[in-house]
Amino acid sequence: DKLSLLVIPGSVRQGSLNCTLARAAMRIAEAQGAATRLLDLRALELPLYDGDIEAKQGVPAGAVELIEAIMQADAVLVVTPEYNGFPTPLVINAFDWLSRAPAAASRPAGLQATANKPLGLLSASPGALGGLRAMNYLRQYFQMAFGMLAHPRQFALSRANEAFDAEGKLKDDKARQQVEAVVQSLLQLAGAVKTKA
Ligand code: FNR
Repeated sequence: DKLSLLVIPGSVRQGSLNCTLARAAMRIAEAQGAATRLLDLRALELPLYDGDIEAKQGVPAGAVELIEAIMQADAVLVVTPEYNGFPTPLVINAFDWLSRAPAAASRPAGLQATANKPLGLLSASPGALGGLRAMNYLRQYFQMAFGMLAHPRQFALSRANEAFDAEGKLKDDKARQQVEAVVQSLLQLAGAVKTKA
């Protein structure tokens, strides 16, 4: 059975550098024998977290979609820019909602779905740090609050506005090798976790 990788970009705008990097990582994962799925967080149509919405309507359907996507995946790869040194609200809001989802007949609670799930981190930015600071916050967020198994290997693509060719491929061999190494080590961890389960 192929390992399945769920790829979640933290920016979904047209021309997003992080979406471009996410797609490059997906092609790399497929070349390494994995099945991949891209999850568009915007399509989940999650409102900004609001305790009154939760009290009146419960957790929105989009959070359940996110839980189901994570359950079906052997590993999750988050590919995000940083805003003012911080992860994007798109990512944090989606996972804050997930963390509020209780167990139901058909599925576990949000935090049960994420527990012990292998996680990889990539980021891209036109700047010199490439989104490194956001990745470090996300590592802490996903490990400490969600129990995910964040792989130590991560990569921040700096000068990302110059990094891709017209087909969205990474021009620089060293950058491509870094992404390959992140994907490979994540898939190895996912394989080890799956074998033990
Ligand atoms: C940014 N950007 C940015 N870049 C960076 O390297 N460090 C930072 O702290 C910030 N801060 C920041 C704040 C806000 C509100 C915005 C909108 C942008 C620039 C950012 O990296 C750039 O817009 C990327 O192109 C965003 O990623 P996508 O959308 O191309 O994937």
